[in-house]
Amino acid sequence: MNILLLAGDGIGPEIMAEAEKVIAALALPVDLDRALVGGAACAATGHPLPAETLAKAKAADAILFGAVGDPRFDNVERHLRPEQAILGLRAELGLFANLRPAKLFSGLEDSSALRPEVASAIDLLIVRELNGDVYFGEKGTRTTASGERQGYDIMSYSESEVRRIAHVAFKAAAGRNKRLCSVDKANVLETSQLWRDVVIEVAADYPDVALAHMYVDNAAMQLVRNPGQFDVVVTGNLFGDILSDQASMCVGSIGLLASASLGDGTRGLYEPIHGSAPDIAGKGIANPLAMILSLAMLLRHSGGDEANAARIEAAVAQILADGCRGADLGGTMGTAALGDAVVAALNG
Ligand code: NAD
Ligand code: IPM
Ligand code: MN
Repeated sequence: MNILLLAGDGIGPEIMAEAEKVIAALALPVDLDRALVGGAACAATGHPLPAETLAKAKAADAILFGAVGDPRFDNVERHLRPEQAILGLRAELGLFANLRPAKLFSGLEDSSALRPEVASAIDLLIVRELNGDVYFGEKGTRTTASGERQGYDIMSYSESEVRRIAHVAFKAAAGRNKRLCSVDKANVLETSQLWRDVVIEVAADYPDVALAHMYVDNAAMQLVRNPGQFDVVVTGNLFGDILSDQASMCVGSIGLLASASLGDGTRGLYEPIHGSAPDIAGKGIANPLAMILSLAMLLRHSGGDEANAARIEAAVAQILADGCRGADLGGTMGTAALGDAVVAALNG
C-alpha cells in the first residue's frame, strides 16, 4: 500500500511524527511518501494544494492527513487559504462520506464534559456528507441595491448526493446497532426537506434499520442530554462539522476523534477531526491519539488490515485505561511521550 503523509500546519507535523512511530513499530508493509499541504505549501509554493501534492494524492492508496490552517494566511484570498487544501482534496478525490466515530474510552468517564453516567453510554458514529452543502455552493460578496455589502453562500443538495451518503449511513447502521438518526433542519430549509424525503426513500432498502429524524438544534441538545440514544447519525456537511466537534468533548477531548473520508473505491483520506491548533503548536503538548486512531481507520478501510487496526485501537485504549493523559485530559504527558506509550503498549 502507498500511503501519502500530509502533515500540514501547526500541530500537524507533531502528531504525524507519532503516527509514523506506530507505522514503524508495526513494521507495516507500506510505502510512505510525503508532500507539502496547507500553509506550509503556501509558504513554499504560493498555493495550499500544489499540483504535485494533488497528483501524489491521486496516485496514493491512502492519505494520512495532519491538519491545515495557519493564522499567517487567514486574510489572503479565500481560494489561497490553507483550508482550501483539505476542501480541494475532498472534492478532487470524490471523498463524499466522512465517518467520525465517538466512543467513551474506559477510564475517561470523568474527563467528559458530561456526567460520567451520561458519558459512559456514548458509542456513536457520525456520517457526515463531505462534498456538498453550503460548503461547495456558489458564494461571494456583493453589493445590495441599497449599497450595503452582503455575503452569501448557497446551500443545496441534489438527490443523488443525499442518496449516496444515505446508503453509506444505512449500511453502517446495519453493521452496528441498526439505528439511524438523520439530522436536518427540514422545518425551515428546503435543502433539508429534500434531504429528509430522499433518506426516507432509501430506507426502503434497509428494513432492518430503524430510521428516525431529528432537527439539528434538538440534536445538539440531545447529544449532551442523552448521547447514548444515538447509534449512527447521518447529516449534511455543515451540521456534521459542528456536531462532531461537540461529540468530541462528550468523550473527553477533541484530541481523541479520528475520521475517515471515503468515496466510491477503497482510497481514503484519514485525519483527526481537529485542526492545526495554533494556540498550542510547537509546545509538544498536542494529543496525538486522534492522529494515531486515524491510522487505524486507514488500515481498516483502505488497507483491509482489520487486525492491525484493532491492535492500534487496543493499544490506545490500554494507555488511557492505564492513566496516560496529556494536557487536554488534565495530565502532564507530552505528544512524544503519548506516542511512545502507544508503541510500548503495541510491543508489550
Ligand atoms: P482546532 O481544532 O485547531 O482547535 C480548537 C481547540 O482545541 C484549541 O484550543 C486547540 O488547542 C484544541 N485542540 C485541537 N486539537 C488538539 C489536540 N490534538 N490536542 C490538544 N488540544 C487540541 O480549531 P480552531 O482553533 O478553530 O482552528 C485552528 C485552525 O485549524 C484554523 O485555521 C482552522 O481553519 C483549521 N482547521 C483545520 C482542520 C483540518 O485540517 N481538517 C479542522 C479544523 C480546523
Ligand atoms: C474539519 C474542518 C474543516 C471543515 C475546515 C478546516 C475546512 O473544520 O475537517 O472538520 O469544515 O470541514
Ligand atoms: Mn471541523
